[in-house]
Amino acid sequence: MTILEAIQARHSVRHYLPAPLTAEQAETLQAKIDEINAKADLHIQLVLNEPKCFSRGMAYGQFKGVENYLVVAGRKAPDLDDRVGYYGEQLVLLAWQLGLGSCWAGLTYKKQPDRFELAPGEKIACMIALGTASGEPERTHRRKTVEQVSNAGNETPEWFRRGVEAALKAPTAVNQQRFRFDYLGTDASGRHLVRASRSFSLFGYTQMDLGIAKLHFEIGAGDAHFVFVE
Ligand SMILES: Cc1cc2nc3c(=O)[nH]c(=O)nc-3n(C[C@H](O)[C@H](O)[C@H](O)COP(=O)(O)O)c2cc1C
Repeated sequence: MTILEAIQARHSVRHYLPAPLTAEQAETLQAKIDEINAKADLHIQLVLNEPKCFSRGMAYGQFKGVENYLVVAGRKAPDLDDRVGYYGEQLVLLAWQLGLGSCWAGLTYKKQPDRFELAPGEKIACMIALGTASGEPERTHRRKTVEQVSNAGNETPEWFRRGVEAALKAPTAVNQQRFRFDYLGTDASGRHLVRASRSFSLFGYTQMDLGIAKLHFEIGAGDAHFVFVE
């Protein structure tokens, strides 16, 4: 399965079989986690066979059977949520390619401090539940349209629309989709400029959502040469 196919097919999974990850799944994820932690200055940790973190029924979510998850942590910094979104979603898509469902969780978890480490100055930004989907029906959501979240039109390149379409498939907290992509033309050296921005939400998590949406945009845009600007 290609990463673009994973973007098309992915949805949040909240109901899991009580099956452990295979050694191959765990090793492949761990190798990618090690690469990301080194590259993006994050402290993501894979926790296996730990049923307590997601065991309480909570209003938003209602997880069932979660025994494996990622603790997505890093040093406190203004851009921490952006990196958490961008790199955490790489793991979500890799998990899908490995046959594993997942769900980002900003609120609906209970920390198990004996199962992860935090260095001084670090914090947990989010958790990501992981595992084999039970097959029970999962909620599906309405998505915004390309026109609602971008200036894509006859004047903008085709890859820009494909990027926005992939961004619309991204998970966002409470499906809020408070992101926007604007094609701004080219700069003096001929590079395409894309402004990625977010609007206010009382619920928060818009910076993390935007990091996730930017990753999807990049994958959807393929090999187009563009840069994100503020
Ligand atoms: C940053 C972030 C935090 C989230 N937090 C929770 C959560 O606490 N509980 C939950 O059940 N789902 C959570 N979600 C999952 C969203 O509700 C879900 O992605 C959204 O409704 C879109 O559905 P989809 O992922 O199936 O496309 C979160 C998603 C993101 C991106």
